Amino acid sequence: MGKLYGLIGHPIGHSMSPVMHNGEFKELGLSHHYHAFDLSPEQLEDGVDAMKMLDIQGFNVTIPHKVAIIPLLDEVEQEAIDIGAVNTVYKRDGKYIGTNTDGSGYLLSLLTLIGEKNLSGKKILVIGAGGAARAVAVSVSQSEVASLTIANRTLEKAEELSKLCQHYSVANAITLSEAETSLGQFDIVINTTSIGMSPHLDRMPISLEHIRSGTVVSDLIYNPLETKWMKLAKSKGAVTDNGISMFVEQGALAFEKWTGVSPDRKRMRNTVLKELGGY
Ligand code: ATR
Repeated sequence: MGKLYGLIGHPIGHSMSPVMHNGEFKELGLSHHYHAFDLSPEQLEDGVDAMKMLDIQGFNVTIPHKVAIIPLLDEVEQEAIDIGAVNTVYKRDGKYIGTNTDGSGYLLSLLTLIGEKNLSGKKILVIGAGGAARAVAVSVSQSEVASLTIANRTLEKAEELSKLCQHYSVANAITLSEAETSLGQFDIVINTTSIGMSPHLDRMPISLEHIRSGTVVSDLIYNPLETKWMKLAKSKGAVTDNGISMFVEQGALAFEKWTGVSPDRKRMRNTVLKELGGY
């Protein structure tokens, strides 16, 4: 019999995870089902109890429950503890275990983009210091980087995140205007903020005046598929990528945890792109 998987969040109406996972279950001949459960913060505890009662074998966790879910789980993996958030839960030996595939998913998608096995020698700039930045920075800092710099509107938050990353690499914090003037130093620039996301299509996280041609510019946004900032970076000779790659990879890693089967990333990507085209 097929098993039940799911997603909890609030709101979850626009999530592409159900179509991506159900599409892949079908393609692989698995009779499992992935269902999105809209749970408000007040419903979280009862909702998670209900999921356990239904014997759900695994689920994704999205905004606003990524931190609040932690005390409701039997165990939490070190990666999720470092990031301070859980995006994936799986069941093993009767226990519900929390992990985080956002950071490792991002890192894998970045390594695929640049065609390398690790980030050895690379100088990285992360823009933003929120939840998404935390997952990206913690994972990237563990991939032999030459340096990791975090730029944020609120400098204290960047300082806090850079201190956490100093466990793994040389890390520091700067302001957004310092990031703009020193942009030419970096090999890889990652926007983790929502600046430029629909409907505010005209906004850009930082100016690209000082960017070097050949810099890798990665924007976690995928709505629109190409932000104004990415378009500008491309016109200045940058190698660019949007947030679809991270989205697919974090989903693929969760899929593997749940089923032990490696899904077809390319096919998952096409499913998501098709879904986005229908926006
Ligand atoms: P997420 O979980 O998606 O990362 P978040 O935790 O709210 O969301 O973090 C949003 C990030 O985008 C923060 O780094 C935020 O900067 P602050 O820490 O100064 O708030 C950044 N951000 C959002 N809107 C911004 C804006 N208009 N200008 C500059 N930074 C912005």
